[in-house]
Amino acid sequence: MSQKEQYTFCDAEKEIQINKYDTPTPWMNYLSNGTFHTMLSQAGGGVAFYKSPQIWRINHYRFFHLPTDRSGFYTYIRDGETVWCPTSEPCAAKPEQWQAAHGMGYTRYEAKREGLAVNALYFVGELENCLIMHLQLKSDTDKKITLFPYVELGMMEFMRELQWQCYNKHQLSCYNREDILIYHYAVENQPKPDETPLVYFAATLPAAGFDCDRDEFVGSYRSEENPKRVEEGHCSGSTLYGGDPCFALEIPIELKAGQEQEVTIFLGTAMTEQAVISAVQHCREQDFVKRSFDGLKQHWDTYLSRFSCEMKDKTAERMINIWNPYQAERNFQFSRNISYYATGTFRGVGVRDTAQDILAMIPFDTKRAREKLNLLFTQQYQDGHCNHYCFPTEGWDPVTRTHSDNHLWLVMAAYHICLEEGELSYLDTQVEFYDSGRGTVWEHMKKSIAFTVSHLGERGFPLMLASDWNDMLYRVCTKGKGESIWTSMQFGTVLPMMEALAERRGEDGRLYREIYEAQNRLVTETAWDGAWFRRCITDTGRMIGSEKEPQAKIWLNTQSWSVISGMGTPNQQKTAMDSVYRLLNTPLGIKKIHPAMTTDYPSKEEALTCYNKGCGENGSVFCHANTWAVIAEAKLKHADRAWEYYTQLIPANAQKYAGQWRYKAEPYVYASNIFGPESDKFGLANVSWLTGTAAWMYIAATQYLLGIRPDWDGLIVDPCLPAALLPVTVHRRFRGKMYHITIHQNRKAKIPESALPECWVEI
Ligand code: GLC
Repeated sequence: MSQKEQYTFCDAEKEIQINKYDTPTPWMNYLSNGTFHTMLSQAGGGVAFYKSPQIWRINHYRFFHLPTDRSGFYTYIRDGETVWCPTSEPCAAKPEQWQAAHGMGYTRYEAKREGLAVNALYFVGELENCLIMHLQLKSDTDKKITLFPYVELGMMEFMRELQWQCYNKHQLSCYNREDILIYHYAVENQPKPDETPLVYFAATLPAAGFDCDRDEFVGSYRSEENPKRVEEGHCSGSTLYGGDPCFALEIPIELKAGQEQEVTIFLGTAMTEQAVISAVQHCREQDFVKRSFDGLKQHWDTYLSRFSCEMKDKTAERMINIWNPYQAERNFQFSRNISYYATGTFRGVGVRDTAQDILAMIPFDTKRAREKLNLLFTQQYQDGHCNHYCFPTEGWDPVTRTHSDNHLWLVMAAYHICLEEGELSYLDTQVEFYDSGRGTVWEHMKKSIAFTVSHLGERGFPLMLASDWNDMLYRVCTKGKGESIWTSMQFGTVLPMMEALAERRGEDGRLYREIYEAQNRLVTETAWDGAWFRRCITDTGRMIGSEKEPQAKIWLNTQSWSVISGMGTPNQQKTAMDSVYRLLNTPLGIKKIHPAMTTDYPSKEEALTCYNKGCGENGSVFCHANTWAVIAEAKLKHADRAWEYYTQLIPANAQKYAGQWRYKAEPYVYASNIFGPESDKFGLANVSWLTGTAAWMYIAATQYLLGIRPDWDGLIVDPCLPAALLPVTVHRRFRGKMYHITIHQNRKAKIPESALPECWVEI
């Protein structure tokens, strides 16, 4: 199957159109209004949840199980003896013509079978907390058909369902109230019973029947592929007071040849029966769907208009203008919570991950960035360290492990908010500490620095603690002595930010400079291995990431971050990045370490990893870490290499190189990692959608390749692009004004803040 046949990007519509339902893995989209969310595949599979997939999950999605990508949001069409779905899945009878398209916050399906054409548009709008499934039907001939919209419900607390379903299912109810199906999750001891909504299912056309009991609707030893009631042509009218619930409606429709009919189905939440009835009344209003969809379109057009570019490389242009900021926004919202790969069961808001996601929200909306960062600051203790994850929606206790990096990411995010806003007011925001008391953001930031200063190891680098950015390094410091050279570089990146802020506040910033210099000496002398920087030091004093070691000799992050932090000599930095190119680069991205480790390194008893070679942190192309190599090469002004690193990892390019059936994941969003060359699955992309790659690749492209960065009193233009790509035009909204910048050469320039609403500049 060639690429062309399987999908097409349609940039004018900001869509990817997918022409076969059986992609190598489900290719997902996220539909959301910030409260009600649905992850939806090109084949109609997926999961909906209200606020939290941990405690308010609506339907079953069977992670890892076969058949893949079940269950989902299906409307069965019974046309004579044939039963099929516009989503293509899950029926055996497929549409004769079919296409799905993922767009900004919506997914649509166009399908045709036996003269009946159906356009189905799925989205979540701002006006109600519901998934809207809007179907337009048109037949070539007069036809009587029956629609059966269906959703398999589940217990809202997914983990409890796995453990306690046999008892708790007796506490579920699902019933029909005035042509609206309602599901009531009344399970005892749930975390937030007063905030748990009812779930509803309703349509704009009258239903002739319904089912609320899944097993009544589907029948025994059947599946969503061939529900018994659909086959029979009628629902059974089952209610459910104890058991496995579902929503199913039976909607008879008479179609006249050539005349279009519309029906909309709503799967939503509201707090009380009365609120459900009002919500459904609202949904059924004549222009509700149109108003909701227009609002969604408007929202994304406005959002994406804040930064866009025109360049010769249309694949890169598409990522920068559409898919990368879209993915980054979804990461900002969902952190690493739920995707096709992540089950949405245990990861709430990660401090480290979310602080990085915030970086890509800042140019779009500092208000949203501030709110999220305030939440993260509430996870900080008086001594300056932070919880690792928190669960603000679920109200659960946080994961309290102390990592060496979490609190330092907060400093970086706060600095960038100030820089975008051009003033320091954010630093005066009062935020509670997790253990006791409150303080300004600036006080929080100072405590971040103080924590690292008071947790240095014997050699003077920051202690690794429970790990730094690299989760695999959790065994380095089990005896409390292992040190992280990378955290030293992260520290070295934020210390100048503290110095700059202190000085702008009229305080003495020299202390930060002195700490920086001391760390820099260590990096230059102790961390340097000859051709690259070492990675960390174990409890027993072993230097990981050295030519002298038999395995894992070179690690990517300490090379790229030497440049980012400005640590080491310029010559060391350049040599280190050349070593990256020589030893780590592949045509599918940069490996994280080389060579990958076996499970006996540094010793069998204390092995650093259980990962197979080439997988995850053990020698895959870790896309998140690749972004920093792009930035480092851009900072070194190596335009061609920076662009090579950037462009080889654009998902559509990587997929083309690896081949669709090897790469497997979506060609429009970044994956967290790609199996590396030491794996027999080299090229297989993993954990797509929710990854720090989204935020950092966006920063790499916009701030370091295009080179448009905020400064206190204007915009810096500092492009680093291959000559063949020039000229490039950028449109960037900055402090309420629009800047149109045409770049003809890689020349650094400063654009003072414009007095006019629009400003045109040629560089
Ligand atoms: C995953 C984690 C992130 C970590 C990275 C490297 O992406 O979400 O927190 O930094 O792996 O280990």
